[in-house]
Amino acid sequence: MDLLKVGVLASGEGSNLGALLAACSARRIPARISVVVCNVAGAGALRRAGESGVPAVCLPHREYASREAFDAAVMAALEAHGVELVVLAGFMRVLAPSFVRSWAGRLVNVHPALLPAFPGVAAVKQALDRGVRVTGCTVHFVDEGVDTGPVIAQAAVPVLQGDDEASLAARIHVQEHRLLPFVVGLIAAGRVHLEGRRVRIDGADGTPASVLASPEVP
Ligand code: GRF
Repeated sequence: MDLLKVGVLASGEGSNLGALLAACSARRIPARISVVVCNVAGAGALRRAGESGVPAVCLPHREYASREAFDAAVMAALEAHGVELVVLAGFMRVLAPSFVRSWAGRLVNVHPALLPAFPGVAAVKQALDRGVRVTGCTVHFVDEGVDTGPVIAQAAVPVLQGDDEASLAARIHVQEHRLLPFVVGLIAAGRVHLEGRRVRIDGADGTPASVLASPEVP
């Protein structure tokens, strides 16, 4: 099977990028990371890409006159590396509608909450402040809103007595690191179908998978 060429956009530590890199290099999923684009010089994501021998492009957004100019530079980097799927893995810039439209159905994001609860920034803090007992993470297709696109898969994480932002975020990260490679693997295998606002997942034998919550990663 041909490996799906994935471009990862990241701004921070890049632990989700790390999980993807590990899944690809272990051949657990039929994908490879073709390029990492990062808007923050010195970010962990750039270091992780370098350590894995994956091309990395640093595009500090403040050096661009407009959002459109920045998005165009991101687009050029993705196209130059033949990217087929774009993964937002802790990418802290909102992409312009024209960019999102160009990648419709080929652009996914990982978010640290069970969407549609707690969209936007500070999702972990929002969950703590609201006192929910269960939160989690979501991988979804990106539409023109902020964290509003069709949900592909989710994993639940309990909120424990005494949790603070750091402890809860750490527990969510563990699930993100399972969920994101799992979903990229499904997409790479051609098993994810966007049908309007809903996503259908085919089982390995071509029949629809029944449940896609807290999946067991092979
Ligand atoms: C993750 O929690 C992700 O859900 C959010 O940003 C965080 C990125 O973490 N969008 P990392 O940079 O992958 O470690």
